[in-house]
Amino acid sequence: MYSEKVMDHFQNPRNVGEIKDADGIGEVGNVRCGDIMKLYIKVGKDETIEDIKFQTFGCGAAIATSSIITELVKGKTLSEAVTISNKDVAEALDGLPPVKMHCSNLAADALRAAVEDYNKKKA
Ligand code: FES
Repeated sequence: MYSEKVMDHFQNPRNVGEIKDADGIGEVGNVRCGDIMKLYIKVGKDETIEDIKFQTFGCGAAIATSSIITELVKGKTLSEAVTISNKDVAEALDGLPPVKMHCSNLAADALRAAVEDYNKKKA
């Protein structure tokens, strides 16, 4: 049912954990299943994402999408990072089963929430 990439990121998730002095934190819940994801970003020079970590209390697809999104945006600027859609996340994992597409929203939404939090703190 899952691609090899999904299984890899589910079994060996990258960038799991917490950034204690994060510049932005995004926390979102999935209304369809009740799963929760928290994402931390550390922003460096030129608004580049220097570090990113996540904690997910969710299904395998939520873990895999969280993991891949950290790889997709590390080193990108905030404005580049917020253009990543849930479709991009699913494509980077070589696809997700249709019933699991909503899980990929969690990662993309948490990232946007973290960037919003950073912008709010900076203002
Ligand atoms: Fe909840 Fe996948 S079933 S995020």
